[in-house]
Amino acid sequence: MVERVKTGIPGMDEILNGGIPVRNVVLLSGGPGTGKSIFSYQYLWNGLKQGDPGVFVALEEHPVQVRINMAQFGWDVRQYEREGVFAIVDAFTGGIGEAAKRERYVVRDPEDIGLLSDVLREAIRDVGAKRVVIDSVSTLYLAKPALARRTVMLLKRILSGLGTTSILVSQVSVTERGFGGPGVEHAADGIIRLDLDEVDGQLVRSLIVWKMRGTSHSMRRHPFEITSKGIIVYPDKVVRLGRVYRVEDLGS
Ligand SMILES: Nc1ncnc2c1ncn2[C@@H]1O[C@H](COP(=O)(O)OP(=O)(O)O)[C@@H](O)[C@H]1O
Ligand SMILES: [Mg+2]
Repeated sequence: MVERVKTGIPGMDEILNGGIPVRNVVLLSGGPGTGKSIFSYQYLWNGLKQGDPGVFVALEEHPVQVRINMAQFGWDVRQYEREGVFAIVDAFTGGIGEAAKRERYVVRDPEDIGLLSDVLREAIRDVGAKRVVIDSVSTLYLAKPALARRTVMLLKRILSGLGTTSILVSQVSVTERGFGGPGVEHAADGIIRLDLDEVDGQLVRSLIVWKMRGTSHSMRRHPFEITSKGIIVYPDKVVRLGRVYRVEDLGS
């Protein structure tokens, strides 16, 4: 029996046949607006609710904005931060600004992967993190794609080595079919791809589990929704994207 971490996202653990195997480093890839950040927040929040401490590494947004974004779904993490079971690593501000001075975990130079690793390790140890999210890893190597694999391998050693089950958010462009580049895709233990497709003048959300070490999983493309309470995945429905778009009920 593999030990698993439940995402707690309605429908998601069903298509993962129980959850993400412990210590896996999962690439969560998708274009802009596909729900990567919301998925990540929900994963961490559900962990906190069931006693799993967590760390969120903010590379794309100000930590203050991350707290606001989460609170919009009813996920107010401030109490957990005070209790010392949740931490946001500020790899966004570089320590610049009044609000940044109040952050506890600040990466002075987010370009410096060595520095980022040190602050990340410290935060994981302090809170005893079981779940970690890095949003996004793409930011770390946008300017130097040759470093992508090395960067992800380094993070993987830290995250898996410290016993966490983690999500690395990977940004791909709207039209790209891949998950963030060959180096990154092969290094990851799992790949979940979120999609947003325009069909007949309407945007349709779907996701697919492309790879997940240590478990079997659904091989289908499932529809999902983003609501005021977060993401809901439909394991009993499948999306066919093609000339005609259809959501089919698998029945049960
Ligand atoms: N309360 C909400 N109800 C429904 N959809 C929402 C809500 N809040 C945000 N969204 C949708 O989520 C999208 C942003 O999701 P996000 O996780 O930030 O995307 P990504 O990180 O992949 O760029 C928005 O473009 C919007 O479509
Ligand atoms: Mg995002």
